[in-house]
Amino acid sequence: MKLRKLNIVLFIALIVIISATWMLRRDFTERNDEFLPGMVESVPFDAFAPNPNFTDGKTLQSPLHGTLSRTAMSIHYTATPDDALRAGKELINPLKDGQPADVERGQKVFASFCQPCHGIGSKGDGLLVQHGFPPPPSLLTPKALSMNDGQMFHIVTFGQGNMPSLASQIAPLDRWRAVLYVRTLQRQAATLSQAPTP
Ligand code: HEC
Repeated sequence: MKLRKLNIVLFIALIVIISATWMLRRDFTERNDEFLPGMVESVPFDAFAPNPNFTDGKTLQSPLHGTLSRTAMSIHYTATPDDALRAGKELINPLKDGQPADVERGQKVFASFCQPCHGIGSKGDGLLVQHGFPPPPSLLTPKALSMNDGQMFHIVTFGQGNMPSLASQIAPLDRWRAVLYVRTLQRQAATLSQAPTP
């Protein structure tokens, strides 16, 4: 009697195993059976696809009227030396406390976008200058030392004289990081000049 019960249990187990094997078959051209498929498949909208969730039917929404993206440049400056001075008074470097990661990133931005003209130590002797580009002034002069961060940010954003605007190449926060790195170079130069000569 016991044997018969065991056989029934084994038979049921066999059926379960065979049906599980059949259900979980791996045909890679076909989707497998999914448990709660709704949790796996979300309903994404492509940026330019129609979207019934918004009244204008678009997925990509325009910024609200009268708002400005947090990283956008304040729009009330023009490319003039006067506005550069004004920017120096009004704009504050958001990375003023100079975290090491920001300075490190600033060094990379400087190496890619400033060094070709300004040179590795910002003395105005970059590779382009060695090939005939009009040399920029050193960024270690009293004039550059006394410039506010905001004025430098304005110069990088709008250009000055022979220096082109780099606004389309460098994102605003990275411009501030480059300024931060120029400050680091200036501090290093000041420390070196104060060191006693051996
Ligand atoms: C294509 C070459 C070039 C590049 C790239 C460049 N500069 Fe300049 N920069 C110049 C020249 C030339 C001047 C001098 C402009 C003038 O007043 O005629 C200058 C001036 C400046 C000044 C003002 C210095 C002063 O004493 O008036 C600052 C600050 C400055 N650059 C920072 C930067 C920073 C930071 C970067 C990178 C984000 C950069 N520049 C990239 C060529 C360049």
